[in-house]
Amino acid sequence: MVKANHLIFKQLIKKGYSLENKKRVWDLSEYKLWYLTDKQTQAYNEIDRHKDYTGYMFGSEADLMKEAMPEIIEEVLHGSPINVIDVASFDGRKAEPLIQGLSKKTKLRYCPLDAAKISVNEAVKNIKKLKKSEVIKFKWNVSDFDNLDDISSLLRDKTFRQNFVVFLGSIISNFEPHDIIFKISEALEGNEDYMLLGAALKTDPKELVETYNHPLMDKFLKIVLLELGFNEEDVEFGVRYRNSRVEMVYKIKKDKEISAGNGAKKSINFREGDEIVVASSYRFTLKELKSLLGDYFKDVKFFTNKEKTWTLALCNK
Ligand SMILES: C[S@@+](CC[C@H](N)C(=O)[O-])C[C@H]1O[C@@H](n2cnc3c(N)ncnc32)[C@H](O)[C@@H]1O
Repeated sequence: MVKANHLIFKQLIKKGYSLENKKRVWDLSEYKLWYLTDKQTQAYNEIDRHKDYTGYMFGSEADLMKEAMPEIIEEVLHGSPINVIDVASFDGRKAEPLIQGLSKKTKLRYCPLDAAKISVNEAVKNIKKLKKSEVIKFKWNVSDFDNLDDISSLLRDKTFRQNFVVFLGSIISNFEPHDIIFKISEALEGNEDYMLLGAALKTDPKELVETYNHPLMDKFLKIVLLELGFNEEDVEFGVRYRNSRVEMVYKIKKDKEISAGNGAKKSINFREGDEIVVASSYRFTLKELKSLLGDYFKDVKFFTNKEKTWTLALCNK
């Protein structure tokens, strides 16, 4: 029997499996499980910097940020100094064009929030290096975007009255979108606060599957299963597209019993042929995003790249 990471095990039990023609398909598609350890964040960093991704996926958003920045800044500026709150900041590099641009026009404070301490530290280091804004590091890590309204009120003071939340990297694709947009919108006040959302758009499924079916994606996501107690050779990586979602799935190659660990007696018997869905990333159409954001914001302005693979939505209540 193998000890499992307790959190991951709990999630497996909570979400359970469904049957597809007698095949058991386990749902482990919980975003925060991908970033529980420093090793996972480092593996994501490898993807983020790899040429196969900088062009097609993450590159689209970075280019769009540079392209749309003058207009975004024009819209957001209300004359007072601004707090930029980078939600799920990772290493903060995505926010650089914003910091560079805004700092030419007003005084800034940059505050990275992330569930992973290592990422907050990197973001602090990267933005400090620019020497364009004050950088604020909160003592606690922010998971599941809770406490956002507390942080937002703590940052707001007589001088820095305006908050600008950036939520980039299409993280929204991996969550229940209403839940998360509600939380962010609750943290915004009046008509001076803004949110900038970055989202990947629905594109050719075949191309999407090819992009995600990459050894680095396998290396990154497999850590969830290794943490659970599987060995490399127990599982096989695959990518599929279903109901507007890219799913990353591991097939179990031989029967295996996984225990809950921490002295708990519970265990799960996985069978050869079972599947574990580790990631499920939704692709929105622009129409869907308009309708979603329209439920929470009065004004939404979209900046979409010409390939129509990525959009930035600037939202104001
Ligand atoms: C795709 S990465 C990078 C996103 C970043 N905004 C960008 O565009 O480069 C996602 C980040 O979200 C963080 N994260 C994952 N789950 C989280 C959660 N439940 N709450 C807060 N942060 C989370 C991870 O630690 C990671 O740094």
